Amino acid sequence: MTARTTDVLVVGSGIAGCAAALAAAREGAEVTVASKATRPEDASSWWAQGGIAVSRDDPERFKRDILDASDDTADPEAVDVLVENANDAVEDVLLGTLDVRFDRTASGEEPAASTDGHAAGPSTREGFDFGREAAHSDDRILHVDASTGEAIHVPFLNHLDAHESVEIREDTAALELIRHEGRVYGAMLERGGEVVPTFAGATVLATGGVGDLYPGSTNPAGTTADGIGMAALAGADVADMEYVQFHPTVYTGAAHGAAAGEEDTGGDGGQFLVSEAVRGEGAVLRNGDGERFMPGYHEAAELAPRDVVARAVTAEREATGEVRLDVSPLAFAESFPDLAALCADNGVDYADGIPVAPAEHFLCGGVTVDDCGRSSLEALYAVGETACTGVHGANRLASTSLLEGLVWGLRAGADAAGREPTTVEPPELRDRDPALPEGFAREKFHRLRRVMAGDVGLERSPADLKRARSVLRRLKGEVDAYVRTRTSRSLYELRHAVTAALLIARAAGENDESVGTHYLIDAPEASAD
Ligand code: SIN
Repeated sequence: MTARTTDVLVVGSGIAGCAAALAAAREGAEVTVASKATRPEDASSWWAQGGIAVSRDDPERFKRDILDASDDTADPEAVDVLVENANDAVEDVLLGTLDVRFDRTASGEEPAASTDGHAAGPSTREGFDFGREAAHSDDRILHVDASTGEAIHVPFLNHLDAHESVEIREDTAALELIRHEGRVYGAMLERGGEVVPTFAGATVLATGGVGDLYPGSTNPAGTTADGIGMAALAGADVADMEYVQFHPTVYTGAAHGAAAGEEDTGGDGGQFLVSEAVRGEGAVLRNGDGERFMPGYHEAAELAPRDVVARAVTAEREATGEVRLDVSPLAFAESFPDLAALCADNGVDYADGIPVAPAEHFLCGGVTVDDCGRSSLEALYAVGETACTGVHGANRLASTSLLEGLVWGLRAGADAAGREPTTVEPPELRDRDPALPEGFAREKFHRLRRVMAGDVGLERSPADLKRARSVLRRLKGEVDAYVRTRTSRSLYELRHAVTAALLIARAAGENDESVGTHYLIDAPEASAD
């Protein structure tokens, strides 16, 4: 099959990739979205529960909350970009183009248009049922029950599907970037075993995070760090890779007898997030002795920063055998019907409290980008969880990930449009043997997850990190040996995952200060000056 060309190639179809595609198409570009997904729920965005934070009366307060949650490690200029563009992006795309119906208060009415004929922005509209989550000093989260990601993502995909300048290619994996002398010219795309060079004026990576590197994750299966792996292997800068956020309240299904991460469940089977919004509405955490423990760990109790709650949950599980989220202080089924249904589907009687444990949730670092999503390689962009914009620093504030994906996706897509695709010699990946030894990828992923959960998880030590680096280097060597002669999707997914894992373990080993999500046993806490 001959090579293809497109103006803008977007790899990944979560909210960040969708936003990039929309913005590039609005600028007149022909856009190809290549996505491994075959269903909307294959993207992490679909699973986002809590919602999307907007700036209400006081943007400075929103900025302060983001900086505080990051232990003052977020980049203030990036935070300004996020907060200052939040309301316009939500108004333009979510309320305007996609007509997302965010929840309203019981008396909430349809928003009035402003006097200049334009609809008023979300901060000024009356009637939204703004939610609250941990470390937010204000109710500012727009949501659709606890299915906000789905409520945004499905209409977004439908909109792009109908767009004459956008082609969505499902079940299509990017294996390797086409690079020549510091510039990226597109990517090698695989579908059904066939590998086709796809040349693009600009390439936008939006493949999500690193969920498949850990046995317990809130991300869907298939989140194998493809964008980060490909970018790093092509020589792009990455940053903040040690900052892997664990969500404190995940029902981990079959793995529940052990701490999340000890059993190799992988993917999305039998696990589900119990949104922080539930704690925002008054749910409390109780240990195996029935005691509420969070007030003893932090003055904000259940609404303390995520890393604090996650470590406390782990400690209490170790000491007392289990932790349950007691939802009796609220009308759970009324406030969170989607979550109540998920409990029923998984045989969980929430009246007894929902058993929870921390699980991998979000990578704060990624491919280093500027305020338009430009990476250190020419014509290569990264957005959403794949990117490190600087907004999150060492720890992300709840309900800022959809927002970051939307804001940076729009900025990157608009910037990426306007370059002509050029062809260069592509990497020689075709006509190779697609076969791998039986169980090869499964066995390597199992080893990868075991070392990441054991040594590069919620709590780390220099000795563990050293051991992890050595195991991962060996693993990478084994995978690279096959990459020289074979081409298959699972091999390349493994390659990207091991590459990202090594970057995480290296960055963690080089950072000897406990800060945010990077917690070293016995290390000094970072001072916030
Ligand atoms: C949640 O609903 O608890 C997750 C929200 C987020 O990670 O931003």
